[in-house]
This record gives sequence, structure tokens and C-alpha cells, in this order.
Amino acid sequence: MSDDQSSIEKSKLWGGRFDEPTDQFVQKFTASVGFDKRLAMVDIQGSIAHAEMLSATNIISSEEATLIVQGLNQIRNKIANGEFEWSTELEDVHMNIESALIADIGPTAKKLHTGRSRNDQVATDLRLYLRATLDQIQIETRRLQYVLLELAEKHYATIMPGFTHLQSAQPITFGHHLMAWYEMLLRDADRFADCRDRLNQSPLGAAALAGTTFPIDRQLTAQKLGFSQPCSNSLDAVSDRDFAIEFVAAAALTLIHMSRWSEELILWSSAQFQFVELPDSFCTGSSIMPQKKNPDVPELIRGKAARIQGHWITLTTLMKAQPLAYNKDNQEDKEPVFDTIDTLFDCIKAFADMLPNLQVNRPKMLKDASHGYATATDLADYLVRAGIAFRDAHKIVGETVSYALSQKKELDQLSLQELQSLHPAMKPDVFNILGVEGSVAARNHLGGTAPNQVLSAIQQAKAKLNPPATSGGA
Ligand code: ARG
Repeated sequence: MSDDQSSIEKSKLWGGRFDEPTDQFVQKFTASVGFDKRLAMVDIQGSIAHAEMLSATNIISSEEATLIVQGLNQIRNKIANGEFEWSTELEDVHMNIESALIADIGPTAKKLHTGRSRNDQVATDLRLYLRATLDQIQIETRRLQYVLLELAEKHYATIMPGFTHLQSAQPITFGHHLMAWYEMLLRDADRFADCRDRLNQSPLGAAALAGTTFPIDRQLTAQKLGFSQPCSNSLDAVSDRDFAIEFVAAAALTLIHMSRWSEELILWSSAQFQFVELPDSFCTGSSIMPQKKNPDVPELIRGKAARIQGHWITLTTLMKAQPLAYNKDNQEDKEPVFDTIDTLFDCIKAFADMLPNLQVNRPKMLKDASHGYATATDLADYLVRAGIAFRDAHKIVGETVSYALSQKKELDQLSLQELQSLHPAMKPDVFNILGVEGSVAARNHLGGTAPNQVLSAIQQAKAKLNPPATSGGA
């Protein structure tokens, strides 16, 4: 090895025991700085807390700690201004920053890594990064919740067909349908909050795996970093990635919900349904078929759900059968997590920006709700109220539908005479329930589709969401 090469190797923070340089390919293959530099700010935050703790416990002097903290703050500014030079040779974000600190402030910087390892450092960084992200996700989710509530309020009485098996089942209101989306999102937000609670523990002090021989104060670093407590077991602290899996799982479920909403928007905006029209600014045309307006954004969100699902598989498979404690495999946790974050933010934003500009075709929704015998169950319930057993009523209504089909009529287009020939219990007031308005209004209980119930669900949700998230912006 040339002297030059040897001095580069020795200058690596772990170079002491090596005589041969790292293979060029291996250097690139093992480096993570290309993606983990995204952790730079939390890495510095963690290092500052560690340095202050080292001084509070007299492991280093307060002058040394002050110098280190000043140096780290300068590096933070450099990174923020895009003036920091990242080097693949220095492998990852941690060693890039530590090497820069040594270059900037001299040998004192070499004391920063006392009682610490990159293993507890990276676990801490990822937790801090995800915690801040989860707080941001709550803000964005609230914006989408608010958008959904506003749209639902506008349409609390807008009648549309409700489906089972994608066949017209019973009339509902569009507001009710949107509030079903809202419930999904509410659970998503809960899952993110739950994930934040559980990840909020500090691995710092676990060092490589077994803890450290220095008299460190783990409570102090935990407290400085806003963690609720230190992780209890040093082996678990450096190897646990449950929090990353939980986060990606919660995001995957959110995206599964969004893929369902997307699917509905795609169907509803087709020429066959014509229930809604998506804003032009959220669609594209076809280069060959001039009539087309393609629902690209919902389609893409439907596709992005697959991507996050894939990240969840990546992370769970990454952890499957990993022995304790830290293994380099774990470096593979970051890209799926980062991509999940970016995708999730984009999808929430897409929905929050698209929905307020959705055009809703009330007449078409009403027309389709009135077709397909959607009030057949109401007629059966009517007969039950007239003293007929439900199973018998079901049969009578089946015959009524069959008769109406043969006459090419809807139920409310049959005459009283025709209805009574099918069963004498049908009186003139039967027309009140054969119409779709009567049908939805009759489902008047908690969680039902009656407009007044829908409105009260919206109002209660709005009160809980108070103060409303500010709309606009990302
Ligand atoms: N870049 C590494 C990762 O992301 C940091 C920890 C490295 N630790 C080690 N012992 N090689 O996991």
C-alpha cells in the first residue's frame, strides 16, 4: 500500500487495525451517506445532547463540551446552507459529521464518541427523525380531515346509491359516504399517534450493544432529546426497528384506505357513472383519444399503495430472524422508511388539494339512486310494520320487484292497484317509503344515513377537530 493510501485508511475513524485499503467497490457498496445524510440534523441534535451529558457527568470538561457544541452548530449551519461536503469514503452521515468536527475544532472533537457507538447513534437518529415526521403527519392529516368534513357537510343530504358487491343496494347520502372515509382517516391518525408514543424512548447509552464503562447519565440524554425514557435493555435498544415497521405499517394502511377512495373516484368519474368530475388540473389527456380525461392522480395513489405495502414487506423481512444485536442489515431500513414518508406526504397532499375542487353531479347520483330497486328493503320493512314476518315480506317484495321488472318500471312507478294486487297490506302511504328521500330519512339512528344523523356526525367531528387545521400549503 502506498503511503498516501495508507494515510487515508488510517484517517478513517475505524482505520487503526487495518493494513489494506477498502476495496473501491466495497466502499461504495457499504456507504449509506447518499441517503442517510437526511438524518444530519437529528444526528447533530443527538450529538449535542451526548456532549452535554458527557460534561455534566465530568467525563469531559465543560470547556471541551462547549467547543464541541459550537463546532456542531457550525456544521449544522453549513449543512443547512448546502456548504457541507459529503464524502462516500466516510461511509455514513455519522462519520461525515464527526470527521468534519475533527477537521474544524481539532483533537477535542475526538472525545465526542466517548461512551457511544454508531449503533445507538443511528437508532437514536431514526427515532428522532420519525418522531418529528409523525408530528408533521398529524398536521397534514388534520388538513385532509378538515377538507373531508367540509365536503361532507356540503353533501350531507345529497342522495346517491349505496353499493354492496358494487350493485345498487340502498340509497345513502354522499355526505355519509364521505364520513366513512373520514372514519378510516381518524383511525390512521390514531395509529400514527400510537406509533409516536411507543417509539419515544432513547437508545443513547446502549453504545455498541452492552452499554459503556463510563458513568453516563441516560436519563439526562433522554430528557434533553424529549424522549419519555431511556430504552430499558441495551441489546434491544440498538437492534430494535419495531418502530420503523409500525410506522410503515400504519402508512401502508393509510395508503390502502386512500387506494379505496381512489378506486371510487376513478369509477365515479367514468362516463358510465358520471357522479363526479375531477378538477382538470388533477387529470391528463390521451395523446390519441381526444375525448379522454384520465384520473391519473387517483390512479397513481392507488398504485403508490402497492409501493408502501412493498416497503412494509422489505422491513419485516429485513428483521425476520436477525440475531441480536446490531447487524449491518439494518442500514437497509432507511430507504424504505424515507420513501414511505415522501409518498405518504404526497398522497395526503394530493387528496387534500383535489377534493375541495371535486364537482359533484347531484342529478346523476339521484337518478341512479332511484334506479335498481334500491328501496326494496324499505318496502320489506314497511310490510313488517304492517304485521308481516320479515322472511314473508322479503318474498313479497321479491315478487314485486320481479313484477316491476317485467313492466320496466321502478317500484315507485307502480300504481297502488298494481301494488295491492301483489299484497293488500300496501296502502297509499307506501309511496312515502318507496321514494329515495323517504328511504334515507328513515335510517334515522346513530351511524345511519339519515341527513340529520350525517349532519350531527359531521358537527361532532368538527368540534373534536377544533381548532380546524389551516387549509392550503404543504
Ligand atoms: N450506517 C449504519 C446504519 O445505518 C450506521 C451504524 C453502523 N454501525 C456499525 N457498527 N457498522 O446502520
